[in-house]
Amino acid sequence: MNIEQTFVMIKPDGVQRKLTGKIISKFEKKGLKISAMKMLVINREMAEQHYSEHNGKPFYESLIDFITSGPVVAFILEGPGAISIVRKLVGATDPANAEPGSIRGDYVVFTTYNIIHASDSTTSSEREISLFFKKEEIYNYSMEIEKYLFPS
Ligand code: PPS
Repeated sequence: MNIEQTFVMIKPDGVQRKLTGKIISKFEKKGLKISAMKMLVINREMAEQHYSEHNGKPFYESLIDFITSGPVVAFILEGPGAISIVRKLVGATDPANAEPGSIRGDYVVFTTYNIIHASDSTTSSEREISLFFKKEEIYNYSMEIEKYLFPS
């Protein structure tokens, strides 16, 4: 079983719409483990690093302005196949394609204001986790159920 860590961020619109609790609850109910969590306001330099691969795209400047506009809630989720599981729970970037039941499918109508970000690959998750969290902010603890999943 491949245990992965993925980076997730509730964007300023998700925080302002008071969806933080509902979103975190969805991931917890699925069975993913929270390994780190913080609220912060991202400065422009950090936003540019986070979205560097999109520099030059038509939406880049508005994306940077938006993500730096207010507090975000950043966290790391851990579990078997966590990266693709979280992307499915988040739903497609284009709200018209986001399945009902997914976070964007249930709460989003504008691509620009799509309330949540999640890493799309192992490479992205490693880069994003190290951008947002120091090693000592990431907690390694075991859950009761893991005794049965990973017997020693
Ligand atoms: S692309 O063009 O396929 O690389 O874009 P995509 O991977 O779908 O999206 C990259 C991030 O940009 C956000 N995005 C937008 N923001 C504002 N306006 C528009 N039109 C827009 N299109 C895409 C999208 O939500 C991605 O950000 P994250 O934070 O990863 O969701």
